[in-house]
Amino acid sequence: MQHTARLSDENLRRIEELKKRYPHPQAVVLEALWMWQGEHGWISEDGMRYIAQLLGIPDHHVFGVVSFYTMFNRKPVGKHKIEVCTNVSCMLRNSERILRHIEERLNIKAGETTPDQRFTLVEAECLGSCGTAPVMQIGDRYYQNLDPESVDAVLKELP
Ligand code: FES
Repeated sequence: MQHTARLSDENLRRIEELKKRYPHPQAVVLEALWMWQGEHGWISEDGMRYIAQLLGIPDHHVFGVVSFYTMFNRKPVGKHKIEVCTNVSCMLRNSERILRHIEERLNIKAGETTPDQRFTLVEAECLGSCGTAPVMQIGDRYYQNLDPESVDAVLKELP
């Protein structure tokens, strides 16, 4: 099957090396999906089929992994993906107010991207930092003990 996009030769080589380390190629699926997202920004259905074909595993396995982990983008996202945790600990510490505040600042709703493609705002499940709720993640970075003022300061600093 022909695919509209592919992985770089360098990542294809890394995948071949990784495959040798495990008894089953399914073990490489997360790594391969990260590589795909790193190169393309999000993972299309065609991308999922490509990964499945590359690893010789069923499409539905890759689809299942992508839909399970919220870190995988199933549609194009802005330059900064803002993930606001709204799970229990954060909810009890007013994450709803944080989310609404960002929606107002960016003039978009959760799940949307700004027209200039700069920001995507999403609700996240527990980010594993409940003791410092409310929490948001932007890229690889965590922002904790948030209030509207600290959120404004973070948004202002983003390139
Ligand atoms: S509930 Fe928000 S980090 Fe755990």
